[in-house]
Amino acid sequence: MDYTAKLDAALGRLHDEGRYRTFIDIERVKGQFPHAVWTRPDGTQRDITVWCGNDYLGMGQHPVVLAAMHEAIDATGAGSGGTRNISGTTVYHKRLEAELADLHGKEAALLFTSAYVANDATLSTLPKLFPGLIIYSDELNHASMIEGVRRNGGAKRIFRHNDVAHLRELLAADDPDAPKLIAFESVYSMDGDFGPIEEICDLADEFGALTYLDEVHAVGMYGPRGGGVAERDRLMHRVDIINGTLAKAFGVMGGYIAASAKMCDAIRSYAPGFIFTSSLPPAVAAGAAASVAFLKRAPELRERHQTQARILKTRFKAMGLPIIDHGTHIVPVIVGDPKHTKILSDMLLEHYGIYVQPINFPTVPRGTERLRFTPSPVHGPKEIDGLVRAMDALWSHCALNRAELAG
Ligand SMILES: Cc1ncc(COP(=O)(O)O)c(C=O)c1O
Repeated sequence: MDYTAKLDAALGRLHDEGRYRTFIDIERVKGQFPHAVWTRPDGTQRDITVWCGNDYLGMGQHPVVLAAMHEAIDATGAGSGGTRNISGTTVYHKRLEAELADLHGKEAALLFTSAYVANDATLSTLPKLFPGLIIYSDELNHASMIEGVRRNGGAKRIFRHNDVAHLRELLAADDPDAPKLIAFESVYSMDGDFGPIEEICDLADEFGALTYLDEVHAVGMYGPRGGGVAERDRLMHRVDIINGTLAKAFGVMGGYIAASAKMCDAIRSYAPGFIFTSSLPPAVAAGAAASVAFLKRAPELRERHQTQARILKTRFKAMGLPIIDHGTHIVPVIVGDPKHTKILSDMLLEHYGIYVQPINFPTVPRGTERLRFTPSPVHGPKEIDGLVRAMDALWSHCALNRAELAG
């Protein structure tokens, strides 16, 4: 077997389709987000503005978070030194879990090294706890949920995106006595649309199913205390398991589930993805706890975030750019072709110092390739003006279609 030729062929396929991923080497500058320094492959550098980060609220540079991390690292050192079971549970981990349980109004929370691992580990473990479990999964669920459902070896049904009538059909077709779980998201990050939480909880009640909600793109940003869309809509008590990340709006690293004490205890005891891996560094847990606690009392930051998103959408719409607007903080501009998307992204970076990563298949369906902008409270009027001017010029330069302007 010529292994190198196989690797060349696999990589060649991606190049041919224009979806080979190039990582941009950036160094963020503390205190100056969203500004960063880009190092080109030839070693030269350029100042850029990051427009596609998921540090949605700028908490990655917040003094409260940094102070907590410095304090913990000085007090306790770098790594945790073990798995949670073998010497890796510290006061910092326990404090963070308590903070998260409180955030979601649940009895308990369980930390993982990322939300990806939390989804994968939890969903792949649930059939061990509920033999015969059928998982109903939204077709646009994140890869981490798809992987967890796929690996668990149990039965699965995929319902059309946000289609509660289809979900009902699937639930009604199965054995009424079979254990069931519905897995979905509150904010789908590529289109920026909301999941129908209340309708899905109603169906879960009717069919005796558990609910599993990924709030990764909502925690910190929605709800009076940043508990997510379920908190905003007063539905947290109706969701059995809430999944969240500490790496996006909370600005640090790690993931978790929040649920009943018994559910967390069972996942803690059975999920290999929780058991057989080192726990988060204590300083990371300390920074995340400080961020969660801070955001519980920072509704003004959430409001500023939403305002920035509204301003950017309004300005893009006024220029006739084809954006998707479902009322969330995410601003996708559809280009519809992987090569054009890459060219636009390259030109924005090289000519305007604006960094937005092209989003291609399989992350989004073919033909809907896009630039996905994530305005934040640290993007000021100067940054927004610069972006709007650059997009206007490039859209004309590339002769891309604009929507009919009203009036
Ligand atoms: C919906 C969703 N769930 C889970 C994750 C994983 O989060 P983390 O970065 O903490 O692994 C992501 C990451 O982008 C996501 O978009």
